[in-house]
Amino acid sequence: MKTQVDEARLRWIALDADLPQIDCGSDIIDGLRQNPKTLPARYFYDDRGSELFEQITDLPEYYPTRTEQAILDTYVSEIVELTRACELVELGSGSSRKTHTLLTAYSQLDDPLHYYPIDVSAGILRTTALQLLTDYPELNICGVAGTYERALANLPPRIIQNRMLMFLGSTMGNMDDRACDLFLTQVQQALQPGEFFLLGVDLQKPIDVLEAAYNDAQGITAAFNLNMLQHLNDRFEGNFNLDNFAHYAFFNPVASQIEMHLKSLTAQTVKLKDLDLEISLESGETIHTEISRKFHLPTLSDTLTNHALQPLKIWTDPQSWFGLILCQRQCLLSGDCP
Ligand code: SAH
Ligand code: AVI
Repeated sequence: MKTQVDEARLRWIALDADLPQIDCGSDIIDGLRQNPKTLPARYFYDDRGSELFEQITDLPEYYPTRTEQAILDTYVSEIVELTRACELVELGSGSSRKTHTLLTAYSQLDDPLHYYPIDVSAGILRTTALQLLTDYPELNICGVAGTYERALANLPPRIIQNRMLMFLGSTMGNMDDRACDLFLTQVQQALQPGEFFLLGVDLQKPIDVLEAAYNDAQGITAAFNLNMLQHLNDRFEGNFNLDNFAHYAFFNPVASQIEMHLKSLTAQTVKLKDLDLEISLESGETIHTEISRKFHLPTLSDTLTNHALQPLKIWTDPQSWFGLILCQRQCLLSGDCP
């Protein structure tokens, strides 16, 4: 782990810098050798992918960002009242755009404000942190570049004895049940009893609204999906020809999730030289790149409770399209309370 002090209010933890073996691409090899083929969603996010995601959040069809923002705007003072002063640790922070609402509200308390943005996309993490230092003269930032898994296991020690982990944007919807279970167990372990977890989740709604959000008229979501292949080309010396693939997204009502795939438009062979990997695709064959689950609040509340994360308050928008859940970490039966 490498920590570099850039200036008094900014610290960096680059979790992957000393551990190139964790980014050896074994997850890509495993996924592309499976039938059907899959790729992990985190490979969407190089600099270009983060930029395309930002464009998605402004699309008329992509309702989640503006809906969650409206919920935050309405209930931020209630959130602050319930948690009181706390350190803010944000998983998958990206541009931290919605986080401004929370930072502004918490900066009005007397206590010093500490923000720990965590993201696998190091470029957007750095640009955002530098901008936030300008926007909030009292803010202290410790940016953590790495995956959720590694970041949650390596969080910096508390400066204030009260922490809130935040996971906005329904990014938890990009995890299947097993990944979700492992993730929530890590969240539980990273929090002390009495601390908080703020979770934003996308909810069930008419299929036409869902499918439009992932098949926008301007083709930005298609470019985002295809960019994963360009990212792999750049990172692992690959030769994916993006013209030979098409974006394919649909709602799967059984699993209650949007699925994004890349469909091969021809029979082809592709190499990723650095991974010593060659794969063949048939015409029409797909690579599954993302799930985006649409949650049912009562079921999700039970799941959270089962991970000792007790929902204290659940807020939604007037159409119940998006949910924001404030959980408090409970004591475990094994007895971890003082
Ligand atoms: N929280 C923001 C951004 C959501 S996009 C919002 O609500 O709009 C998802 C973010 O999670 C991206 O910035 C991406 O780089 C990051 N991310 C995706 N997979 C990740 C992983 N496994 N570990 C850490 N960050 C990840
Ligand atoms: C980050 N994540 C919650 C987005 C989503 O809606 O699942 C990623 C995305 N994929 C396509 N559009 C946006």
